[in-house]
Amino acid sequence: MKNKMDRLEELKTLLRNHSYHYYVKNEPIVSDSEYDQLIHELNSIETEHPEWITPDSPSQRAGAEPANSLEKTEHPAPILSLANAFNIEDVKAWQTRIAKLNPAILESDFSIEPKLDGLTVVLHYENGVFVKGATRGNGQIGEDVTQNLRTLPSIPLRIPIDKNGPRPPSNLVVRGEVFINKDDFELLNDNLREAGKKTYVNPRNTAAGALRQLDSKIVATRPLRIFCYAIIASNGDIPNLQTDRLTYLKELGFPVPKEIKHCTSIECIEKAYNNWIQTRDNLQYEIDGMVVKINDMPLADSLGIVGKDPRGAIAMKFPAQEVSTDLINIGVKVGRTGVLTPFAELEPIQIGGVLVSRATLHNFDFIQEKDIRIGDRVLVKRAGDVIPYVLGPLVGNRTGAEIEYQPPTSCPECGQPVEHFENEVAYYCVNVACPEQLVRNVEHFVARNTMDIVGMGIKIVEQLIEEKLITNPADIYSLTSEQLFNLEGFAEKKAEKLIESINTSKSQPLNRLIFALGIRGVGEVVAQELTNYYNNLENLSKTTQEELEAIEGIGPNIASALIDWFTTPANQAIIQKLTHAGVNPQVEQLSIENQKRNLEGLSIVVTGTLDNFNRTEIKETILKHGGKPTSSVSKKTSYVLVGENPGSKASKAEELGIPILSEQEFIQLIKE
Ligand code: IVH
Repeated sequence: MKNKMDRLEELKTLLRNHSYHYYVKNEPIVSDSEYDQLIHELNSIETEHPEWITPDSPSQRAGAEPANSLEKTEHPAPILSLANAFNIEDVKAWQTRIAKLNPAILESDFSIEPKLDGLTVVLHYENGVFVKGATRGNGQIGEDVTQNLRTLPSIPLRIPIDKNGPRPPSNLVVRGEVFINKDDFELLNDNLREAGKKTYVNPRNTAAGALRQLDSKIVATRPLRIFCYAIIASNGDIPNLQTDRLTYLKELGFPVPKEIKHCTSIECIEKAYNNWIQTRDNLQYEIDGMVVKINDMPLADSLGIVGKDPRGAIAMKFPAQEVSTDLINIGVKVGRTGVLTPFAELEPIQIGGVLVSRATLHNFDFIQEKDIRIGDRVLVKRAGDVIPYVLGPLVGNRTGAEIEYQPPTSCPECGQPVEHFENEVAYYCVNVACPEQLVRNVEHFVARNTMDIVGMGIKIVEQLIEEKLITNPADIYSLTSEQLFNLEGFAEKKAEKLIESINTSKSQPLNRLIFALGIRGVGEVVAQELTNYYNNLENLSKTTQEELEAIEGIGPNIASALIDWFTTPANQAIIQKLTHAGVNPQVEQLSIENQKRNLEGLSIVVTGTLDNFNRTEIKETILKHGGKPTSSVSKKTSYVLVGENPGSKASKAEELGIPILSEQEFIQLIKE
């Protein structure tokens, strides 16, 4: 048997190499479970021999004992920032300015790098081992966040990662930027939302909060990443050109953005700038500009510093995605489940070429935490295709005339009292007859992925409610073509057609009907789970809290929401009406042997257009077979099903080494 200590060393090397391939090169060479097995083996040797644990062991990433506070630490050299340029003219002026100090500048080429929107950190290596990591702090003194940084899988705990890589100098201090990928952020929020917890506002703040955590075990659960771009100090030979330094950092095992460019002219810089403005939304990480650096670093350094900014580099900012404007009022929207969501009514303002007059305020806690007041000047952000959101107030502009905001105690639409449950962020209007809720409810009931009543758009729904022709979704089934014909905008044909599609909808399957009812917490996935257990609405309506909680994927909150719903007399009347109208789908219960749950435990992301399924159908098919349809690709994804014209999810899958399925392969898989 091999000596245990040798095996320990071997395991460390293997694990280091695996996480390097996974996180830095984006080319994994083993599966997650193989990796986990190796970690397990390493842990058990180290538990047996704690004296063998070294700070560069992959086991040390799991997080250490919580600290009471963060220690201060002095940087070996000032951690500088950058002066800004906003267009190519500013860059030309910068070049002219510094050429006056040294004409050699006019001959110099440039390193062009994405300006990552994250947080600067400083990583110290002694004899190739990561020994300390700090935040920027005031540029002279930062905070020691070594334990937190150790948990980032993309930070090498020992360099070079590759045995054949360059030998680093015995002292090496590297600067990088910590951030969270857009997809990871989405997934993090998806999980929080599902758990009924408060979601994060944006990737940068989330990363900042995590980095300064006192408990590194919490940090280990956040998807933080790093890109490195500068050498702050070293006691050995390092390359002179910035572009070579980046290659050198990469060879040592540091993650370096692959989007780096080398330019020899101002025209090239301008092209890169325009190009990045176009493509920044496609990047996995947020950037707020690009950095132009004089490539010859000794030459750049010889130019000196102005204030905190080195003369040898400049940040070219992109057109702002964050703009300040006046908060005229705070409005409240009523959702279909009665959740009240606050939104900002803004003095209209252009952000990245779009006129913005409304932005989300997330929830009422957010308003309170940020102390946002009506009349405040607020910072608003719009990035890519996200809904614009308020970042917070610019309190320096306060005049004293601002008005503090209180969450509503009554529903803005129906005036009935609002409920706020302990431990929940949301405020609810619980009035089932609330007209606004009714509109949203009926809109949901008739939607494409529920009862699919073709031709019944929001306008018609509003009209029907206004004319008091319907007071709940079930009333739709007692509408007559004469009633519709009497409405404004309805000709005979249109009325008949709508009645026809109402009738067609009666044969929608049970899972769709359950989802259509709009019960709090009951989405497509839960509706399908319920359908797997109850073969009709009647059985479901007679269920108990315990029985529901025994079903996988249904927790106490959803269970009590279901019980509440089915025991409310108004809802019982809805079920009766539906049954009378012939909306009473039954499910043939398959015997256990015949249930084809052959996607059990698999999470599948779909991208692109499929030949045999639309969006809803494919989701339903995955669910029916026991799988879980998910929206973003992560290392937890089992398969990515790729159709015609796939989006960035297909390339993400390739990057992460997630197996890709064609539509035919998928069909084969469910038939097997
Ligand atoms: S160089 C002296 N390069 O942008 C070197 N900075 O506004 C100064 N940043 O505080 C920094 N990506 O946090 C540099 N490729 C990059 C960068 C970068 C992001 C950040 C950095 C700095 C800020 C300057």
